[in-house]
Amino acid sequence: MTVQKIAVLGGGLIGASWAALFLSRGHTVAIADPKPEAEAFCRQLIRNAWPDLAQLSDIPDVPDWSRLSFHATIAAACARADLAQDCGPDRIDIKQAMLAEAETTLPSQALFASSTSSLMASDIQAGAKHPDRVLVAHPMNPPHLVPLVELVGGKATAPEALGRARAFYDSLDRVTVVAQKERPGHIANRLTSALYREAVNIVAEGIADVADVDRAIAYGPGMRWALMGPHLIYHMGGGPGGYRHYLEHLGPTQVDRWQDLGTPELTPALIDRMVAELDASLSGVDAEALRQKRDAALVALARLKQDLPV
Ligand SMILES: NC(=O)c1ccc[n+]([C@@H]2O[C@H](COP(=O)([O-])OP(=O)(O)OC[C@H]3O[C@@H](n4cnc5c(N)ncnc54)[C@H](O)[C@@H]3O)[C@@H](O)[C@H]2O)c1
Repeated sequence: MTVQKIAVLGGGLIGASWAALFLSRGHTVAIADPKPEAEAFCRQLIRNAWPDLAQLSDIPDVPDWSRLSFHATIAAACARADLAQDCGPDRIDIKQAMLAEAETTLPSQALFASSTSSLMASDIQAGAKHPDRVLVAHPMNPPHLVPLVELVGGKATAPEALGRARAFYDSLDRVTVVAQKERPGHIANRLTSALYREAVNIVAEGIADVADVDRAIAYGPGMRWALMGPHLIYHMGGGPGGYRHYLEHLGPTQVDRWQDLGTPELTPALIDRMVAELDASLSGVDAEALRQKRDAALVALARLKQDLPV
């Protein structure tokens, strides 16, 4: 089954970015959002995204707006869709209600893929008419520029549905990974949460301030992590002896450090301090300027990675 029409359920940050990507690849996109402002928000995000998308693949000069429609209800957006991409609020009761409404019009062969960062496909599909086609397809923000899509099936998800989902996201030049078990945060956000816990702890313990924590990542390990994952990095850290040598030589020092990592409490005082330190480090640069800088850098990085020999 080929995917032509996609219903994007929720026209917020993630839904609008998915919509830009889907539209750029020639799909018909129907966005459902009860908020009237969602349409203007999505149109603006798509306009902003287009020149960036054009640098990464061969797409039309301008969006084909006739392929994009907005709907106040999920049922209207899902009619005749081949895939529904859930981008609604990250609450299980809302996701289940959105799926129930989608199933009133979504053709039975169509996939229901949730962008959820934290919920389980098994919980979302509980009570569904066709739970076998429900799965998690989790992007990273912004989905039109960060290629990763994490696929996770629930207890009732058909392997065939996961296979179809993988073929679809691969067709958009996404990099798909499959989590074999359902756990909060899937794969990538378990890793980012592990790092973020210590980023907060370092500030809480007074080891360094917010600006230096961020610099330590962005100009240190972050530069390598953009190119390769932690296992491969330590394979290289083992020199000619590779990963085994690294683990046998320096593995014990990793274990010592693991024992010393903190579990900070997000107290109001700590929140105030981190926000104040972050604001000070920004010295007035606004959110739109930051977004533009981030997106330009993501495009340059994605192009660099397209050209890398491995
Ligand atoms: N923000 C991120 O960094 C990020 C990254 C990856 C995945 N996600 C996931 O994507 C999903 C959306 O997150 P977001 O950041 O775009 O949130 P958001 O708040 O920006 O957007 C959610 C949108 O859903 C709309 N909505 C509410 N009820 C609805 C309904 N019944 N039907 C249709 N639309 C409805 C809201 O009006 C809003 O526009 C969440 O599941 C989240 O976990 C978020």
